[in-house]
This record gives sequence, structure tokens and C-alpha cells, in this order.
Amino acid sequence: MKKLAACLVGGVMLVSCVSGTDRKEAEMNHFVDDLMNKMTLEEKVGQLNLVSVGFDVTGPILSENVEEKIKAGQVGGVFNTFTPDAVRKLQNIAVNETRLGIPLLSGYDVIHGHKTIFPVPLGLSASWDMDLIGRVARASADEASADGVNWIYSPMVDIVRDPRWGRVSESNGEDPYLSSCIARTMVENFQQDDLSKENTVMACLKHFALYGASEAGRDYNTVDMSRIRMYNEYLPPYKAAVEAGVGSVMTSFNEIDGIPATANRWLLTDLLRRDWGFEGFVVTDYTATMELLHHGMGDKAKVSELALNAGTDMDMVSEYFLETGIELVKSGRVSEAVVDAACRRILQAKYKLGLFDDPYKYVNEERAASDIGSDDKLALAKEAAVKSMVLLKNDRQVLPLDSVRKVAFIGPHVKGRRDLIGNWSAAGDWRKAVTVWEGIENTVGTANCLYAQGCNILEDETLIDKLNPHGAMIEKKVSADRLLAEAVRTAYQADVVVAVLGETFGMSGEAASRSDISLPDNQRELLKALKATGKPIVLVLMNGRPLTLEWEDSAMDAILETWFAGTRAGDAIAEVLYGEATPSGKLSMTFPRNVGQIPLYYNHKNTGRPFLDGQKYTTKYLDIPNEPLYPFGHGLSYTTFAYCDINMSGNTLSGNNGKLTASVIVTNTGQRTGVETVQLYLRDMVGSVTRPVKELKDFQKVLLNPGESKQVNFDITVDQLKFYNSDLQYVAEPGEFQIFIGGSSADVKSASFVYENK
Ligand code: NOJ
Repeated sequence: MKKLAACLVGGVMLVSCVSGTDRKEAEMNHFVDDLMNKMTLEEKVGQLNLVSVGFDVTGPILSENVEEKIKAGQVGGVFNTFTPDAVRKLQNIAVNETRLGIPLLSGYDVIHGHKTIFPVPLGLSASWDMDLIGRVARASADEASADGVNWIYSPMVDIVRDPRWGRVSESNGEDPYLSSCIARTMVENFQQDDLSKENTVMACLKHFALYGASEAGRDYNTVDMSRIRMYNEYLPPYKAAVEAGVGSVMTSFNEIDGIPATANRWLLTDLLRRDWGFEGFVVTDYTATMELLHHGMGDKAKVSELALNAGTDMDMVSEYFLETGIELVKSGRVSEAVVDAACRRILQAKYKLGLFDDPYKYVNEERAASDIGSDDKLALAKEAAVKSMVLLKNDRQVLPLDSVRKVAFIGPHVKGRRDLIGNWSAAGDWRKAVTVWEGIENTVGTANCLYAQGCNILEDETLIDKLNPHGAMIEKKVSADRLLAEAVRTAYQADVVVAVLGETFGMSGEAASRSDISLPDNQRELLKALKATGKPIVLVLMNGRPLTLEWEDSAMDAILETWFAGTRAGDAIAEVLYGEATPSGKLSMTFPRNVGQIPLYYNHKNTGRPFLDGQKYTTKYLDIPNEPLYPFGHGLSYTTFAYCDINMSGNTLSGNNGKLTASVIVTNTGQRTGVETVQLYLRDMVGSVTRPVKELKDFQKVLLNPGESKQVNFDITVDQLKFYNSDLQYVAEPGEFQIFIGGSSADVKSASFVYENK
């Protein structure tokens, strides 16, 4: 079948034949047309309703009478339920007890694994390893699809520059290029080239859009941003996911240009569908339609009208479309064509998933038994945890540990299990996670290790009261003084102290913003007491966000950032500590010195008064340097790498298809094999609008044995020079460019070239 495309040029309607709609699509359209011809308006509106089945509530209300509603044809999809049994039961009702037997979508938040849990996304992004991230996404889809889930609320690609925002742990950090690579990789691996395969799931891109720019890092807060910043800095990862064919998109809670995303027609229809060509369906976030009331957009009918007319297709939990949709169509406030289009997109998604062929495709007890938590997935969880860790500091090579020396492991996270899988760990069971102590037993044994809890994870009662109702399980069984005294005694008996500290899992994630992102006071007290023993101290951190660690950086000998590393956290941490694996992670987000620097990001503008030492009237703080504590791209290894100067294949890039090659030779100058992530940044020296001081454009990972050198080549193309100008045209402007290559955004070699557009 051929699709007819029509456009108006100079008032004349041009109609042309566009090929490319393949037979499969024609069959799908035929099937959906046929089905929709049989549907009443009530049944169409029912398809737009998404209900939550009982747990993992992330909002103010819970769906009620779900089974009755499914029976009445008032539900298009369910979420927050899984296992073949549970989903089969609901699917049975939809298929056998409704007039048209339309199967349900079955959604779930599979954010960093389904039952086998991988590091939190911020951690995984620090691997800068697309092959690994692809395998993690594939494994997650494999498990979820065996367990009743056919639709997952991932990838989350919000750019974040404010680590106070708890949801930074679900993100890929601050960089549009790195996050775009990850977005693409995840979508491709969740969905592959055929959604109807039993082990693929439909991805849901979120949160569209700009949610990561919530003012003051407070969750659900207002966003206000110029279009030019949106296009250049915040939208690229969403666009990349759309280009990779993501099947669905979730609206964000925030407003954009004064209109909440769920009601924002410019965002959902003009940008997403018209400009980017998105053909899937749009679902709201949890009760986001209802929240339009609080945003001050009108009453129930009005906000539903706004959301539907904006291009929202499916209503998560609010049930406003269900309650008002029919009346809105009858009164003409929403045209039936709008409801038809929304219903059609949802039915198309079900068709693509193969649910009309076999509604039980994703409820497969046999696959669930063999594929969930399989050995290969557990091995991948350990590999991902190892590759996500970032060695922030390592003075005098205190790491790796020598198994012959006495090591005191101190801290509540040494034997703690509850926190290892982090927040949004979906169906993951924290009881199955491997603790650090168990990891040491599995790796080198604990014969030369001592243990003391050191402190309670938190002493702050107010915070504990906020976290415990949500599963934190924080107990203060032993007095802080006793724990501290015991820790100091233990430290004195050892050659090296390893303090395993950080956040509890509930301190980052949704609705977990913090105004102070340092280690809890009682943990710092412990570190101070340990420091006073004079023993070398390694700080092992578990947390879901960048922390402010200025004192720790000055006082500790080594700091290893492990994030919340997942089901195999303990094994991975032990292997890295004892040198069976070498850390290779690089920060995907800047670590500020203190919260006063936020927002702090490497790809900032230069200002008209760049900092100049000794000059009063330049951009600076009186009390701290402008620079972060640990910059974007930073991460050490147990070996060292040297970079030679950049070699350019020429110094002029010409025309639209021109290409230059920039090369460096990287040498492993240390004693161990290691992996380095070689990063390429560009700076456009003069532009029609101001340009960032540096932007990541490419990176490569290289494995080097001691003494080995490798040449790393980067192609520089015109595409990499492009940006959105003040007319929002995507252009490359002729002129001088600087190129930087190095092992972190702050440690680079540089060269330059000229781009001429001829
Ligand atoms: C709210 C969160 O913002 C979103 O990320 C999640 O997918 C939904 N709840 C569904 O659980």
C-alpha cells in the first residue's frame, strides 16, 4: 500500500505518492480500522484509561475496582503488576469478558533491571559503555517480558544539572551527547527490530520534557527555560530516542513556557509529532491530568479537554478521560477525531506487540522460570556494577588492597543489604543482593578482615520518619557512642580502614530532593574519628547522586564511588577493592564542592568576564573556586595513562561533507592493564549566539596493557559542529574551532581547526 502525503505550497494542494509504508503496516492499519469500526465511543474512551493495579504508588491516589472496569471495557492498560499469573488473570478478563476482547497493555517501571538489578542509571551511565548498556537493556527486557510485562517506563533521559534533585539517580547525568547515545542504545535493545517477539517490550521515553530542570532541584517544581537552551542542551536525548523508534512517550510533571507538559500542544503535537515524526502514543505521568487542576489550568472537564487536544493519548491513574471524554466529544469541545487518533495509536501499539495474535505472549511461566535471575544475568549484574564504579581519588595507591594486610571494614553499608539495589528497583528483591562483606568472603575471604558497624546509617529522626514509611527499615539498635568506640578500636587493629558509607536508598529517587547533599553528619563524625587513628582510609560510597565531598576529599586517602550497584554489588565492590578488577568509570555528572555552586556543569558559557586570577571584576565566588570538586568525565584507574599531543589530518574542514581526523596516542604508563575512556570535546570560538566552552562530541574506550600505546582516531564532521541558532535552525557556522581530547573534561590536550562552508 502507498501512503498519500499532502502539503500546501503557496496555497496549492500538492499530493504525492510516498512509498515506504510496508505490507505489515498496511495490514496493521486494516486490522485497526476494522476494529475501530466496531467500537463505540465509550469503548474508544476506555482504551485511553491506564490503571495501577495495587502497589508501588507514586502519587496521591490509587486505581479502584480495576477488574470491574476492565470487564466494562473501561481500561486500555494496567501497570504495577507482574508475574505470569497476575497478568494472565487480568488479560483473561479483557480478552474473554469484554465485548470486543481487546487485550491489555501491561506496563511497569523497569528502570535498572526487572528482578536482576543493575546499577542505578546514573551509575550505569558512568560506564560510558554502550555495549554494556545495550546488554543490560536487553537482559531487563528479557526478564520483564517473561514476567507479564510488555511495556516499560524507560529510558529516562532527563538532563540534570542539579544534584539536589533526587531523580538524578534515574538519569544519565548532565550531558546531551552521552545521554543521547544511551537513549538510543536502550530503545534499540528494549524493542529490537520486532516488538512482537516474545522477549521484546515497548519502551516509554520519559519524562517529556525538561523534567530534570526543576527549579531549585525540588521535585515536581516549575521549569522555565529559553527555547535555544531547550533545543541545544535538553531536548537532544529525547529526540535520539524518538529517532531510534521508541514506541511511547510519557509526559513530565513540569510546565514548559507556562503550560504543563500534559496540556502542552506545542510540545506533544508540534514538536514531538510534527517536527520529530513520532508515531507512537503519549501517556501522562501518574495523575498528571489531575494535577493540571493544581497547576491552575481549569476544572476536571477543562483539563481533560486541554490534555486530549494537546496530544495526550492515555491517562495514567487520573481517570479523567474516562470520566469526561464522552461528554467532551458530545459537546464538541474535543472532536471525535481526537479520541479516534488517541485510541488508534494505543491499538496500534497492542498490534505491534503482537497482542492481538496472542494476548498471552508475555505471560510465560516456563520463560519466567528459566530466564529470570539466570546465571548470565547475574554475571552481567556484576560486570555492570564493576564498570560503573568511579575511582574519585587514590593517593599513594592505597587501592587496590593487599589481601595479606589487615583491613578494617567499617560502616553500616558493609553488612547492610536493604540499600544495595537502590531506588526504583522495580521487582528486584533486596534480600537477594550480595553484601560487601559477602563479596569479600566470595573474593579473597575475610580471614584478614575486621568489621565494625561504626554508626547507624542515620541519626536524624526527622529524616528517618520520612524514609521508614517507604521501606527504608532504618533501625537504631545500638547507641552511636558505642558504635563509634568499637569502630575506633577496630581501626587501630588494622593496617588500612575501608569505610563503607553513603545514602540510604530512599534518599535519592522520586520525591527525594535534598538541600544538603553531603554525607549525613553522624557518618562524617565517624570518618573524623577514624581519621584521628592515623590509619590510611578508603571511603567506599553508595549513593544515588553526586555528593559534596570537599572534606572527605581532603581527608581520605582514596574514594571509590559505587552508586547503588545492584544485585551483585558486594561481589563487584570486593573485586575492585582487591584489584581483581580495575575501575574504569568516568563521571557523567559534575560533583560540586558545595551546594552554593549549583547548577554546575562542564559545558557552560564563557560569560563576558571569564575568571581571571587576581582580577576583582571577573566571574567568581569570594569563598570557593569556580571549579567543581570532580569534573564531568573524571575517573581514575589503578594504572595511569599518558596522552601525546593531538595530531590533525589537516587544519581546515570544508563543505558539507568534509571530514578531518584528530588522533592521539594514549599510553598505559602504569603497572596494570586498564581501560581508558578517551573523550573528544569541541568549542566553537565565535558564533551568532554564544557557544559553550566545551561540548562532548565523541568518546572511545581503549584497553591497554602496561607499557602499551594505541592510536585513537576521531572523525570530525560538519554534523558535530551544528547547533540551534536564535531562529532555531540547526546550522554549522564557519570559523575557528578548538578541539580537546583527554581523560576528563578538565584534563585535555588541545588543537584547533577552521571550518569553511565551501
Ligand atoms: C511516576 C514517575 O514520575 C514515573 O517515572 C513513573 O514511570 C510513573 N510514576 C509510573 O510508576
